[in-house]
This record gives sequence, structure tokens and C-alpha cells, in this order.
Amino acid sequence: MKIIDGKMISNLIKEEIKQEVEKIIKKGERPPHLAAILVGNDGASLTYVGSKVRSCKQVGFDSTLLKLPAEISQKDLLNKIHELNNDDKIDGFIVQLPLPNHIDEEEVLMTVNPNKDVDGFHPSNFGKMALNMESFIPATPYGIIELLKRYEINTSGKNTVVIGRSNIVGRPISILLSRKGNPGDSTVTLVHSRTKNLESFTKNADIIVSALGVPDFLKSEMVKKGVIIIDVGITRVKDDSNSKGYVIKGDVDFESVKEKASFITPVPGGVGPMTIAMLLKNTLFSKNL
Ligand code: GUN
Repeated sequence: MKIIDGKMISNLIKEEIKQEVEKIIKKGERPPHLAAILVGNDGASLTYVGSKVRSCKQVGFDSTLLKLPAEISQKDLLNKIHELNNDDKIDGFIVQLPLPNHIDEEEVLMTVNPNKDVDGFHPSNFGKMALNMESFIPATPYGIIELLKRYEINTSGKNTVVIGRSNIVGRPISILLSRKGNPGDSTVTLVHSRTKNLESFTKNADIIVSALGVPDFLKSEMVKKGVIIIDVGITRVKDDSNSKGYVIKGDVDFESVKEKASFITPVPGGVGPMTIAMLLKNTLFSKNL
């Protein structure tokens, strides 16, 4: 069994990005600039956005964090997005999800200028991704593709089962792994909450990508020997013995499944750190658009 070390690979990618930034500065240009909009005070979102901003500093990017109150109106939020769309000093920006219930998320994501949509959530980018055209690829699926590439995992002709159909992970990774190319060329099955006899799919899978958000969901008896496991789950589980009051759990019962797996991503330290590295890569790409 081999651990797929997302922390190590993400540091490598950040180092590569930092070198690109140094070249940009040497040319006398300004560094790439990423902005993030955070609405409200969701604990996990605060942590993620904080991490994104810190990573910008690490690679030499400029960053702007716009913290907006949970009660902000739809109109005021859209106005902020228009401001960022029209700001030439900002190369890319994200609106951290989830948004409060009174906000129409679809309208928000549709308002982001597709050329600054470093999350790849705008239908124009999502459509281009599905059509194998150059576009921003959502950071988490992009991170998974990069891990498969760097660990030289062959996905061609493999039975790949994706668990979960979210717009952010499950749906896009199922598209990416079925596209022509490497990684890609997989026979992808997307299973979800309405799937009957989910185990019959996971037991036959060569590769499983789990993006469900249910801690310890995938057990040893649900997988076959030699399976490749990509665990995208990051759920906070209450734990008073920990100074933070919680621990981060993946979708996979790591201790039992690792005995059967040929490759496995840990949580934390697997897919999570890759998401940020790929967001930075998208921002660098955006600067060069
Ligand atoms: N919430 C969870 N993951 C993501 C992400 O990749 N981007 C944004 N904007 N929000 C998220």
C-alpha cells in the first residue's frame, strides 16, 4: 500500500508557482492577485479561506479577502462581484460556498466573469471542461487529476466509481476521468444517495473517488484488493479530547481499507491541500489570459 501524499505534492506545486511568480516580477510586472468573498461566519469556511489567503503569501501572490455580513442582500453581493469583475488589478476571485439560504447561489455564480472564475463554477467553464476545451477546472477535481498524474496511476480502461454527485467534486471528477486523455479514459460510474446496492459498484471498482461527506462511510468489505482510493471527505467530528474541539474525518475507514488498497489518500494531508495549490495554479493561468 502506498500513501498518496497530497501535502508533499501541494508543496511541490506551490514551489513551482513561486518560481513562475519570480519570473513575472523580473519582467517588471505585478504578481498575480486572487480575491475571495466570504459571506457570514461559517467556521469551516473561515478556515478554508484563511488558508487560501496564507497560501497566496507563500507563493508571492497578492490577495484580498472581502468579509461580508451574513445578512447581505442579493443585490449588494452581486454589486461586489461586479466590482471585482471590473477591477483590472484582480486576476481571479472566488465566492466561498456555502452561501446563506437567502442568497441565490446560481445567480451569484453566473455573475462571476468567466475569465476570472478561478473556481471553474461558471456554466461557461463547466461546459468547456465537459467538452475538453481549455478552461478553469474546479480546484478539488483538478487536484485529484494532478495527484493521479504525479503518482503515475494509470486510469485508462479502469472501472472508476465516484461516490457523490455535487457540482464541486463528484460531477466534475466523473466528467474529467471519462474524458479522452491521461488521466482519463476511465469507465466511470457515478453513484449517489439514490443508488441501489451501492456496494455492488464499489466492490468491482479499480478506483474509488469518495466525495460524500459521511465520515468512515467506505469500509474494507465494500472494496476489492488492490483498489486505488481517493478520499475527498472532510467532515468536522466533535472530539473534546482535541484542543480544537473537533477532528477532521474522511469518507473512508482508513485503518481497515488501507490493508486492501494499492494507493490511498489520507485525511488530512491528501486531497485537501491540493485544492488550494490548484486554485493558485488557476489564478496564475488567469493572470496570463
Ligand atoms: N466550498 C467548498 N469547496 C469549495 C471550493 O472549492 N470553492 C468555493 N468557492 N467554495 C467551496
